[in-house]
Amino acid sequence: MRTVRVNAASKSYDVIICRNAVDVLPYEVQKVCPGALKVLIVSESNVAPLYLDLVKSKLKINGYEIISHVFEAGEQNKGINEIAAMWNKMAEAGFTRTDFVIGLGGGVTTDMAGFAASTFLRGIKVIQLPTSLLAMVDASVGGKTGIDIPMGKNQVGAFWQPSLVLEDISFLKTLPDEVFTEGMGEVTKHAFIMDPELLEKLEKANGDIRSDEALLEEIVYMNVADKASVVGEDENDNGRRQTLNFGHTVGHVIERDSGFTKPHGICVAKGMGIMIDACVRAGTLDTSDAERMKNLLKLYKLPVTDDITPEAIVEGAMNDKKKRGDTLSVILVNKIGKAEIRKMNKEEFLKFLSV
Ligand SMILES: NC(=O)c1ccc[n+]([C@@H]2O[C@H](COP(=O)([O-])OP(=O)(O)OC[C@H]3O[C@@H](n4cnc5c(N)ncnc54)[C@H](O)[C@@H]3O)[C@@H](O)[C@H]2O)c1
Ligand SMILES: [Zn+2]
Repeated sequence: MRTVRVNAASKSYDVIICRNAVDVLPYEVQKVCPGALKVLIVSESNVAPLYLDLVKSKLKINGYEIISHVFEAGEQNKGINEIAAMWNKMAEAGFTRTDFVIGLGGGVTTDMAGFAASTFLRGIKVIQLPTSLLAMVDASVGGKTGIDIPMGKNQVGAFWQPSLVLEDISFLKTLPDEVFTEGMGEVTKHAFIMDPELLEKLEKANGDIRSDEALLEEIVYMNVADKASVVGEDENDNGRRQTLNFGHTVGHVIERDSGFTKPHGICVAKGMGIMIDACVRAGTLDTSDAERMKNLLKLYKLPVTDDITPEAIVEGAMNDKKKRGDTLSVILVNKIGKAEIRKMNKEEFLKFLSV
């Protein structure tokens, strides 16, 4: 069993990573939710048939009253209607501030469970049980929660740290291959911006980190440790946490232009590929590092480019919610493991992408 302690300014908590981690759930829950009598388990239509009964059976010895909310899987349901249904269920069951929520699923589920918990009774505890690679290495750690509105993705949300994250590597066995590949977008991103050792491990694994569970566990652990170190320094996304947006400024535009039909991790990979090329042209990254990074993306079956024009990227990026005033915080990689936040206005960003 491996544990990463996340020391965010607002709260410290453990991320426990191992195979069959669900076995320790009842004991770990008791530690972080003393006095709890009720729990709402939030899950969705693909994950619930696989793991909901298992999680419920583990919690039985704690004697909780367990209620669940299972929504139809998919980003299109990450909205206020499901959240309202969760609030109502908790209110009807008489939840108090010592009761808690569990998120059991991918990033859509952990984002929603976190948001429901952050708002109910002005905030109750949430425990995350991520089941997708992306949710394990990224979404469930760091306390960003949110939902989508018609005007955009993740436009409504809160910073609300979980009380515990339990990552059961065995859950990944049922994850479809293409969804696993999407998660590799964020894994490679961590390697590029801050973790040369992770990059080497991924190169060595030669495109397959799935068939060896011990290796998979180690790689998930390295990613969680990376994310935790960034969140520990900058919980509210005012500084270093922005480096996690490498590939995202461009990726978000591609994602939005596709009407959210292209998966996030794939768009981020394309965004990273485009930024890697731009960094080389601008002279901030040498070609050998750039080649290594793009080869790694290809090795894990991720795309490295897109036919979107620099003009369309800049236009789209200027409408992004992460923009502050007239300038964008653009994330560059200067060498493997070293990211830079550079402020650019519209003209500068267009020049950077076009030169
Ligand atoms: N809060 C954050 O910091 C943060 C960071 C990154 C992404 N996100 C959010 O995460 C979401 C994307 O997460 P995702 O890629 O996990 O999407 P997801 O939750 O939709 O899961 C992807 C697919 O995998 C299925 N699935 C998940 N676990 C499974 C398992 N163990 N076995 C079989 N099927 C399984 C789901 O049913 C779904 O079809 C987006 O909404 C994004 O905004 C949040
Ligand atoms: Zn992302």
